[in-house]
Amino acid sequence: MKAIQHYQSQFLAHLEQYNHARTPRHLYDPIQYILGLGGKRLRPTLTLMTADCFGGDVSASLDAALAIEVFHNFSLIHDDIMDNAPLRRGQQTVHEKWDLNTGILSGDAMLIMAYQLFESYNATQFQQLTALFSKTALEVCEGQQYDVDFETRFDVTIPEYIKMIEYKTAVLVAAAMQMGAIVADATKDAQQQCYDFGRNLGVAFQLQDDYLDAFGDPKTFGKQVGGDIIENKKTYLFLKAMELGTLETQTELKALYGNAKENLDQKIVRTLHLFEQSGAADTTKQAIQSYTKAAFDVLETIEMDPNKKQLLRDFGSQLMTRTS
Ligand code: IPE
Ligand code: IPE
Ligand code: MG
Ligand code: MG
Ligand code: MG
Repeated sequence: MKAIQHYQSQFLAHLEQYNHARTPRHLYDPIQYILGLGGKRLRPTLTLMTADCFGGDVSASLDAALAIEVFHNFSLIHDDIMDNAPLRRGQQTVHEKWDLNTGILSGDAMLIMAYQLFESYNATQFQQLTALFSKTALEVCEGQQYDVDFETRFDVTIPEYIKMIEYKTAVLVAAAMQMGAIVADATKDAQQQCYDFGRNLGVAFQLQDDYLDAFGDPKTFGKQVGGDIIENKKTYLFLKAMELGTLETQTELKALYGNAKENLDQKIVRTLHLFEQSGAADTTKQAIQSYTKAAFDVLETIEMDPNKKQLLRDFGSQLMTRTS
């Protein structure tokens, strides 16, 4: 996968020259920290790859890719506050390492920094990029609100769940790709196809994130395994276990997700057992495959260099076997 790594290193070099120390330190140190913590850099890599797929200038797509990654990292700081998460990429979350107020303000600054990065584009591209960005960022907020609303609901449906993850996660992956297409001056149709590929891939990606949150290896996952169970998240695993499970399973799950936060280890052990026993774990794996396949079906229809198309397919397949 040398070709994919090449895009990643190009992005990392750009990030490195951007991510320097600034004052006041209490505002910027957490930003430098989260941006320097690593992560898969999935979204910016897709921006660069997409620009290249349409014969665009890859270096011209770097600022759009960086805007997406800065926004993503901002959303992680605030998401970790909302999810009470102690760990991110194997290290302390920003609000744990500093405090809540720091997480809020450094996050706010990152959202503005993300917008600022579009200033390097000409008026036409600036308009297109910021319009897409604003629409996407607002949808992420809507998705995050649904995610929180669902914590206390027991009547969440699968279509509601899919809409929630489409908004909180998939639209950003989709926008990352469309931005690459915009910078490369691809046609509107091609832009839309890239967006649809990214959206399906993004849904598969969030389903996989839910799966790893329950069944991942704490050594590689980098986040608290079982965190979604602790927070009563209505994941695909949970919803499918409620749908496929026996009446006993349903009753037990409802009790586990409805009670005060005590005996958390026991809650995780029982929930994981019910996820497996009900068939929800297997069904989730199938859903990951079917959304990835839907993404590949869209990819087939896009007119681009077949070698570059293969790279996008390889990238999508790699995501299905990830452990972090
Ligand atoms: C985490 O995204 C948030 C989700 C949408 C699941 P990533 O899994 O891409 O996080 P990093 O950037 O690689 O750490
Ligand atoms: C991620 O959802 C969505 C956003 C960060 C916008 P999660 O809450 O599942 O992400 P992780 O698992 O904390 O990375
Ligand atoms: Mg979270
Ligand atoms: Mg969350
Ligand atoms: Mg998660």
